[in-house]
Amino acid sequence: MTGAGLHDAPGEELVPLQTADEARSYLNAGHSLSSWLLTTDHKRIAILYLISITGFFAIAAIAAGLMRLELLTPQADLLSAEGYNRAFTLHGIIMVWFFLIPSIPNVFGNFLIPLMMASTPGGRSTPRSRPLMPTATSCSR
Ligand code: HEM
Repeated sequence: MTGAGLHDAPGEELVPLQTADEARSYLNAGHSLSSWLLTTDHKRIAILYLISITGFFAIAAIAAGLMRLELLTPQADLLSAEGYNRAFTLHGIIMVWFFLIPSIPNVFGNFLIPLMMASTPGGRSTPRSRPLMPTATSCSR
């Protein structure tokens, strides 16, 4: 038999070159939405955090864009004084607390620390609590 990944020398037992476990990674462990949202794999959880903070960055960037547009002219054309203050506060708080602070600890922390601790034979570290965090709170870990 000549299949990819199989030895086919005469008299030799067919041995897959790559076992099923080796071929499986956090990227191909499942392709459904629930396989990502209910995952207990720390690498997938890190990716979820990355997606969350990217979304928050986009929201804060829209607020920055509104401020920039407002500052094109001296008059309050687009935003009132109060509206400008709101955009300023929204931008500042989201950038700092929902993007900057969660970025390194949550994304790199979830991805790398379990690997560095060699604590994840099945890619699991505190598997029950981690998946809740990207959606419930983006600020803490
Ligand atoms: C990680 C943190 C932050 C990032 C990446 C960030 C990024 C940006 C970017 C890309 C702009 C658009 C620049 C422009 O329009 O020329 C902007 C505008 C602005 N940001 Fe931030 N920002 C951050 C935090 C903050 C904080 C903490 C405050 C204040 C509390 C703030 C206040 C402003 C203001 C007032 C503008 C409008 C200024 C202007 O357009 O001239 N930002 N920010």
